[in-house]
Amino acid sequence: MTQSPRVLRAAALLTTVLSLHCGSDTGADPQAVAVPVDDDGTTIVADKAGLTAYIQSGKYLKWEGEAAVHDSVRSHGGSVRTYFNGKYLFARRTGTYPMAVGAMSVKELYSGGSVSGYAAGVKTRTGSGADTWTWYETTGLPDVQYFGVANPTCEGCHSADSGRDRSLTPTVPTATR
Ligand code: HEC
Repeated sequence: MTQSPRVLRAAALLTTVLSLHCGSDTGADPQAVAVPVDDDGTTIVADKAGLTAYIQSGKYLKWEGEAAVHDSVRSHGGSVRTYFNGKYLFARRTGTYPMAVGAMSVKELYSGGSVSGYAAGVKTRTGSGADTWTWYETTGLPDVQYFGVANPTCEGCHSADSGRDRSLTPTVPTATR
């Protein structure tokens, strides 16, 4: 039996809707087994489990963060507060791009006044380009809806490069120490 074009179009649309709803996983960078994300030498495996463990450890709270929870500029919905590690801040404050391997930011996603999810980006390779960043987003663990190198959902906006190696935060916190 041949499907009518209308049925095929409906099936294609449904597939699109489902994939948007269910997120996407482009996989870890196989080289990203010891990414130096902290100035004290802490390294992480930048796969899904490694990023989940690092975020849950709360170590990113020692980084410098935005002064307060604020409305997301236009994209991430709701209220957010982003923390940036030393390599990320160095790049943004001095205009040194591409960022160093290990540059990372963690965006807390708030609902009802408490943290309900996280979005993160970590630089896992030297150079420029989509395959140098691994993206991660959960709107409630244990599910990680978006993950992976050059994840197309995240690239959809973050590749619209501002000349800052995919960083879109309008202004990072000014140096306090
Ligand atoms: C619709 C556009 C859009 C999409 C899609 C998007 N982002 Fe963003 N993202 C932004 C904008 C704009 C900012 C800066 C303003 C803000 O914080 O809301 C940002 C900021 C961030 C930051 C803080 C560091 C930075 O780049 O400034 C992280 C981390 C982040 N996004 C992760 C992700 C992840 C992970 C995904 C994919 C699941 C994603 N984003 C998808 C627009 C987007």
